[in-house]
Amino acid sequence: MTTSPPGSSVRVIKPRSPDFVFDAVPPHWMGGSPFATQLINGVNLLFPAGERFFVRSVRRYLDQVEPELAAQARGFFGQEGRHARAHEDFFEALTRQGYPIASFLSWYERMAYKHVEPAASPVLRLAVTAALEHYTAIMAEGALRDGFLDAHAHEAVRDLLKWHACEEIEHKAVAFDVLQRVDPRYRTRVAGMALGTLLLLSFWAVATGTLLLHDRRQGVRKFFRLGNTMPLKGLVTEVFYAGIRDYLRRDFHPDQRDNQQLARDYLVAAGFEPAAV
Ligand SMILES: [Fe+2]
Ligand SMILES: [Fe+2]
Repeated sequence: MTTSPPGSSVRVIKPRSPDFVFDAVPPHWMGGSPFATQLINGVNLLFPAGERFFVRSVRRYLDQVEPELAAQARGFFGQEGRHARAHEDFFEALTRQGYPIASFLSWYERMAYKHVEPAASPVLRLAVTAALEHYTAIMAEGALRDGFLDAHAHEAVRDLLKWHACEEIEHKAVAFDVLQRVDPRYRTRVAGMALGTLLLLSFWAVATGTLLLHDRRQGVRKFFRLGNTMPLKGLVTEVFYAGIRDYLRRDFHPDQRDNQQLARDYLVAAGFEPAAV
């Protein structure tokens, strides 16, 4: 049983393992703009531990879903695991540049995964995962569609983010579909969206602030130079405002947003094998 429109979803989710070299990435790799760079770096800092949390949250219910969805979930685990490792490779470049990310990551991982995660029920963790995967898929679509990475980003980070974006679009429905099987109640979905949004915004703000504070201590003053390199307005209106509005529709499903072709086009152009639908 599936609630998605026929043919709109990737049915076979397979991880890919590209290599990235971040040695030549400059500190303000997004068009020379400290603010745009650190806003994106800030959410990147949340990814590896967040993606491992997503995997834990979904894996718990693997034996409660039909074999086709369980197979998709295993593909999702493989993709998220590779994303986490690739982003941690990028963290090494940030560390070499002097950013105090180890102390931030230690605090974030303790707060999010030693305090908040055990306090939430397993089904709420799954609902948070489904909501955050919804945000990730919208951001992924923007990264592929809007052209701001092509126009302004250093090529190594651009390639990392665009590969990640494509796979986020491929597996965007997995956590949601597992949640629908385990607990289809609307209030569970809303609770996951509420807690997920609060956590994402809080940790993202602290991460970005930590990076910008370091820049300031290094003497950076023009934070908004080339400030239009990051569609901040789009982040507020499309990711959060429209994202929440869509997610709260009772008949919402991730596949209602038609963006698989966008991912497929990039994967083919970049020399990756596109997913089967
Ligand atoms: Fe990911
Ligand atoms: Fe994901």
